[in-house]
Amino acid sequence: MHWKRPWHVLALGTALFAGAALTVAPGPAAAAERAAAARVDNPYVGATPYVNSEWSANAAREPGGGAVSDEPTYVWLDRIAAIEGVNGGMGLRDHLDAAKAQGADLVQLVVYDLPGRDCAALASNGELGPDDLAAYENDYIDPIADVLSDPAYANLRIATVIEPDSLPNLVTNASGQAGATDACAKMLQNGNYVNGVGYALATLGDIPNVYNYIDAGHHGWLGWDTNLVPFAQLAHKAATTSGATVADVAGFAVNTANYSALHEPNFTISDTVAGSSVRQSKWLDWNQYTDEQSFAQGLRSAAVTAGFESGIGMLVDTSRNGWGGSARPAGPGPTTSVDAYVDGGRVDRRIHAGNWCNQSGAGLGERPATAPAAGIDAYVWVKPPGESDGASQAIDNDEGKGFDRMCDPTYTGNGRNGNSPSGALADSPLAGHWFSAQFRQLLANAYPPVGGGGGGGADTQAPTAPTGLRATGTTASSASLSWSASSDNVGVAGYLVYRGGVQVGTSTTTTFTDTGLSASTAYTYTVRARDAAGNTSAASGAVTATTSSQGGGGGGSGACTAAYHVDNDWGSGFTATVTVTNTSATALPSWLVKWAFAGNQKVTNAWNATVAQSGQAVTAQNAAHNGSLSPGASASFGFQGSYGGSNAAPTPTCTAS
Ligand code: BGC
Repeated sequence: MHWKRPWHVLALGTALFAGAALTVAPGPAAAAERAAAARVDNPYVGATPYVNSEWSANAAREPGGGAVSDEPTYVWLDRIAAIEGVNGGMGLRDHLDAAKAQGADLVQLVVYDLPGRDCAALASNGELGPDDLAAYENDYIDPIADVLSDPAYANLRIATVIEPDSLPNLVTNASGQAGATDACAKMLQNGNYVNGVGYALATLGDIPNVYNYIDAGHHGWLGWDTNLVPFAQLAHKAATTSGATVADVAGFAVNTANYSALHEPNFTISDTVAGSSVRQSKWLDWNQYTDEQSFAQGLRSAAVTAGFESGIGMLVDTSRNGWGGSARPAGPGPTTSVDAYVDGGRVDRRIHAGNWCNQSGAGLGERPATAPAAGIDAYVWVKPPGESDGASQAIDNDEGKGFDRMCDPTYTGNGRNGNSPSGALADSPLAGHWFSAQFRQLLANAYPPVGGGGGGGADTQAPTAPTGLRATGTTASSASLSWSASSDNVGVAGYLVYRGGVQVGTSTTTTFTDTGLSASTAYTYTVRARDAAGNTSAASGAVTATTSSQGGGGGGSGACTAAYHVDNDWGSGFTATVTVTNTSATALPSWLVKWAFAGNQKVTNAWNATVAQSGQAVTAQNAAHNGSLSPGASASFGFQGSYGGSNAAPTPTCTAS
């Protein structure tokens, strides 16, 4: 598992891989043998996931581990021998039988044994050489399919995460980029990642109760459109290779075994500080996403654009991206510079977003949850917390695992992590082996925190008071507020909003808009958090918001400007960013940008605005999170387009809407 430098050079339009497609091998189970259960849209809905009893026993042995040891985690089929069971441990059938015995009806598997595995790192190198595609197909995928297609398991839904890191590595680490390795170049050239993923999708996808999710890295790897779009296209190629079709793909998994935060609550990608976008901060390094949830949703739409089915869903591995504990910032960073603002506010405390091995300071993230947000099938624990990412020093082994210095806390880094320290914990065992000290730290730094104090009794602990309450915009009749999330041992259920000490509403997010106000009036607000057990926090600090005058500035045209910039152009397509600035003296509640293309440009996919096109005319309405702009503030949105002929930049206009 590792990260790769952003790839700013686009190589679309050329084939990303040059292998020959294999002919289709029929799935090992005859269709007639299979139960006819139709696939559902989201396999997690209504399902009871299997608790891996081996992981559960390891977790329960740790002090306090019993509080999470009944969480469902993925079973990693990380070598051929894992199908039967390694060293007397459970094999695939044992897990499926145990699931039935538990009364579970969803089993989660990681398919992880590609030829030349983990080509850009060493810690999870595997048993199959780069050219061992036949062994992968015959000795690994086919036997897995034999087990899964047994009618005895037809009533279990099987969710698979297909081959972590493999296709992302081909996008950023195979040729022409700073992070490129010879091993990844080889896998691009021989086609075996694409062929192997295609074969896994086709063969497992033949089994009606299997739901395949293709691994898609994380936002700190593919979060630049110049990486994301080629990834979506490469995944589509794999999903139409070796007999696979897009119907074999239920969706994508992000953040597998990584530490990227699910939400960065203290800044958004459209924030600016002193006229500079947060995208310019060292931490984001021009990334188009700040966190995994927004990345997963952006990836989903890019994948649909690339040809995947519109019903696909995303999984987010939240096993180790909690970042709680005392180092978690309580609110936004200072607005002295973009770096101070982002570094002071970010909850992901890694030294560099490219660090990936046993990260010091991390915590358990959201507990597994079904359909938690639009387009997301589930938050899942793919990486079983407490299992190492790699050894901190060379250890002899018979698993094919190498020593990667990104797991050595004394390593001072390389081009792929900005030459920063590795941030890894000391004294770690081989990848996949139990790492007690890491588990204990993950538990201590969990966010949301893990229920304290024994459990069983009624919860009497109130959440922490919300912090960082601010007015994000006003109109003549409304005031919009935003604040930083509270923490609580049983989880925060929502917020109560008070105007002048009187409750005026509730919110399940960290924003609220108070309406029906009088013009030119000052209102004072506070917010309290309430937890799932009904305890209410102390009030936040107060903020005063003054509504604007009736019919005053801000309503007419000329309140904002829009600047259009082509970021990349590869001859038949392009990406562009439009930056909207509030040029008026009053807050702008929302904005509408319009332009007319001179040529035949077509917007194919947009982010951070709702973009519609009719002929050459395009309109872009702000998204919910970036409509409100204080005087002088900017927001941006982006899109991908296709064209033939000229790609002359149009001149957009902006109006308050
Ligand atoms: C290792 C696998 C292990 C998995 C889950 C990977 O990094 O290479 O052997 O099964 O993590 O812990």
